[in-house]
Amino acid sequence: MRPVPKTQYEARLRSEELRSLINYHNRLYYELNQPEIPDEVYDDLMNELRAIEAAYPELITPDSPTQRVGGAPLPTFEVVEHRVPLLSLSNCFSEEELRAWHRRAAERLGMERFALVSEPKIDGLAIALVYERGRFVQGATRGDGYHGENVTENLRTIPTIPKQLRGNYPERFEVRGEVYMPRSGFEELNAAIGEENLRREQEGKKPLPMYANPRNAAAGAVRQKDPSVTASRPLAMFVYQLGWCEGPHPESHFEILGWLREMGFTVNPEARLHPDLEDVFPRIDWWGRERERLDYDIDGVVIKVDDTRAWELLGAVGREPRWATAFKFPPQQRTTKLLDIQVNVGRTGVLTPFAVLEPVVVGGARVSLATLHNEGDIRRKDIRIGDTVIVQRAGEVIPQVVGPVVQLRTGEEREFVMPDRCPACGTPVSRDPDQAAVYCPNAACPAQQIRLIEHFASRSAMDIEGLGEKMAIQLYQSGLVRNVADLYSLTKEQLLRLEKVQEKTAENLLRGIAASKSRPLPNVLFALGIRHVGMETARLLAEHIGSLDRLLDVKAEELQQIEGIGPVVAASIENWVQRPENRAIVERLVAAGVNPRFERPAAGAGPLEGLTIVVTGRLERMSRAEAEDAIRARGGKVGSSVTKATDFLVVGADAGSKLAKAEKLGTRMLTEEEFLALLERGPGAVSDAS
Ligand code: IVH
Repeated sequence: MRPVPKTQYEARLRSEELRSLINYHNRLYYELNQPEIPDEVYDDLMNELRAIEAAYPELITPDSPTQRVGGAPLPTFEVVEHRVPLLSLSNCFSEEELRAWHRRAAERLGMERFALVSEPKIDGLAIALVYERGRFVQGATRGDGYHGENVTENLRTIPTIPKQLRGNYPERFEVRGEVYMPRSGFEELNAAIGEENLRREQEGKKPLPMYANPRNAAAGAVRQKDPSVTASRPLAMFVYQLGWCEGPHPESHFEILGWLREMGFTVNPEARLHPDLEDVFPRIDWWGRERERLDYDIDGVVIKVDDTRAWELLGAVGREPRWATAFKFPPQQRTTKLLDIQVNVGRTGVLTPFAVLEPVVVGGARVSLATLHNEGDIRRKDIRIGDTVIVQRAGEVIPQVVGPVVQLRTGEEREFVMPDRCPACGTPVSRDPDQAAVYCPNAACPAQQIRLIEHFASRSAMDIEGLGEKMAIQLYQSGLVRNVADLYSLTKEQLLRLEKVQEKTAENLLRGIAASKSRPLPNVLFALGIRHVGMETARLLAEHIGSLDRLLDVKAEELQQIEGIGPVVAASIENWVQRPENRAIVERLVAAGVNPRFERPAAGAGPLEGLTIVVTGRLERMSRAEAEDAIRARGGKVGSSVTKATDFLVVGADAGSKLAKAEKLGTRMLTEEEFLALLERGPGAVSDAS
C-alpha cells in the first residue's frame, strides 16, 4: 500500500482519484459482474483511502465509498501462500507464433521432435487443491500467483472435487485446475435471477445484477461468504496439472492426467497426446470448430511439453513457463464505441432499441449492430450514446451490449430517449401499462407491414422461398403488396417491373407463393402475425377451428375454454378477427386457395404414442418445425426441454445445452438418420441400441 501523502493538497488529489477508481470497480463488480482487478487490489485501494481519511478527516465526503453502508463489503478470506507459485501462460495467436514457441523450446532441449499434450484452456478460475493421505484438506484461489484465498469450505460443495481419493495416491500433493460454471447452468442461473427481478420490480426493489458470462458467475460463486450459496450454484472442475507432490509420480504429463483421473479427479476427456507439433494443428482446428457445442467456455488450447523432466530444463521467462503456451481463440467480448441508438419497429408494432456500433470483430465475426432489449434495460445498465461499451457474442446468439466503460466517459455522452412518435409512420406511440413495452398503434404502419410480410413468408410460417427482407421491402414500397393477401394475386409482369428482378427470381417467387397454399393450418394461423399467437397457440387454435374460414367466427369466450389459451390471448385473437381489414385478408386468402383443414392425428393410433421427444440443433433434411410436426402427426409429444420424462433427444448440428442435460440424465440420443428411421418405422427401429 502506498504511504499516506504528506501534504493535505496531495492527500486530496489522491483521495479523489481513489474514490473514482473504487466507484468504477464497484460498478464493474456489482453491476456488470465484470471485475477487472483481483479483489486484493481492490482491498488495497479501499485501505489506502481509509488511511488517508483517518489522517485527514476533513477530506471525508458523504458519498465516499468508505462511508457507504450498502455496497456490501467484499467477503474476506484467509490468505494462503502457494508452496509453488501458480504461473501464467504465454499466448500465441497464429500458427507462426506457435511454431516460434516450439522452435525456442526445441533449441533449448536440443531436440527437433518431442511429444506434446493439448488440452482446452477452460475459461474459469484457477484453483489449487491440497490432499493429505487422500483427503481434501485445502483449496485456494490463484490470487496473485504467490498468495491466494482459502476457499476450502466453498470448494467442498463442488461435486466434481473429490473429498476422498481412491487408488494409488501420493502422501501429500497439490493439484491444479479450473473451476467453471457449465453454460447450461449459467443460463439457468441468469434466468432465475431474471425471474426474481420481475418479482422485485413489482415490489419496487432494486434488481439483482445478472452475470455477464459463466466465468464471472463461477468466480462470484466460489467467493461467497456462505458455502450453502456456493452449493446452490452449478459448478464443476477440470484438473489439468500436478502442482507439487511428495512422492514419485509419472514423468509424462499425459500419464499424470490419467493417474489423476484414476484417483477420482475430473480431467478433460479431450486432452490428447501428440507425437510432434504437426499433429497438434488439426486438433486446434477441431477445438475451434467444436467450441460452440461444448457446455463450457474455452478461450484457447493449452499446449504442453509432455516430458515433465524437460520442464525444469526449460524453466520460465518471468512468470511464463517455456514448456507450455496457450493458443488463443479470438475473444468473445470486446469494447467499441456506441455511435447511436436506433429504434426498430417489429411486426406487432413494438419499438425495440438497438445499438449502432463502430464495427469491431468479436469472436471472429464483424459486429456493427447489437441488441439492447428495451428502454428499461438501457436505463438499468446506464448506457449512453457515445459511450465506450463492452460487446459480447455468446454462441450463435445476436451480439449484446453488456454495459458501458464508465471510466472512459468524456462528458459528451447523451442519454437515450425513446421517441414519442413511431420512427416509420410518425404516429404517436402507446405504452403498454403492464409490459412496459412501447408500440406503434397504427396497424397500417409501413414498418409493421413489411415485417409482417417477412414473418408471413418465414420458414416456420408459410415458408415462401425467395421472400426475405429485401424482397418484402421492395414489394411493399412498390405498392404491389400492401398486405399478405396481395401476394396471391402477383403476376410475373408486375414482378419484372421491380428493380433487379430477373425472370428467374420472379418465377421462383411465384412458385414459392403457389406452394405455400398447401401449408398446414397451424402454420397459416401463425403466419397471420396475431399478437400473442405463437406456434403453440396456433396449433391449439387450429385444432379448435379446423379450417381457416372458421377463424372469422371465433369469440374470446369460446377460445378461453381451450386448455392452454388464457384470457389475454383469447382477447387478442378476437380483437384481430373483429377488424374489417383483417377479415378481408382472411377472406381473400381463402378465395386464393389458402384454406387448409386441420388434420387431427388419429387419437392413439400413432406409432410414437406415449413418447416424448425433444429436438435440438439444426437438422439437415428438415426444419425444426417440420420435425416437430412429424412427431405430433405420429401421436408423439414434443418436449421443449430435456427432463426425466424425455424418451429421445434428436441431436442436430450445433446442439447446445440440451445435449449436456441429456448426457447427465442418460437420455437416449438419436442422430438425424435414426430419427428418420423412428418416424418411418416407430420405436422398434431404434430401441436395440439404447
Ligand atoms: S496450465 C504454468 N492448463 O490459464 C501454466 N492452464 O493463463 C499453468 N487454464 O491460470 C497452467 N485451462 O487458470 C493450464 N488446461 C489448462 C488450463 C489452464 C485453463 C488457465 C489457468 C491459468 C491460466 C494461465
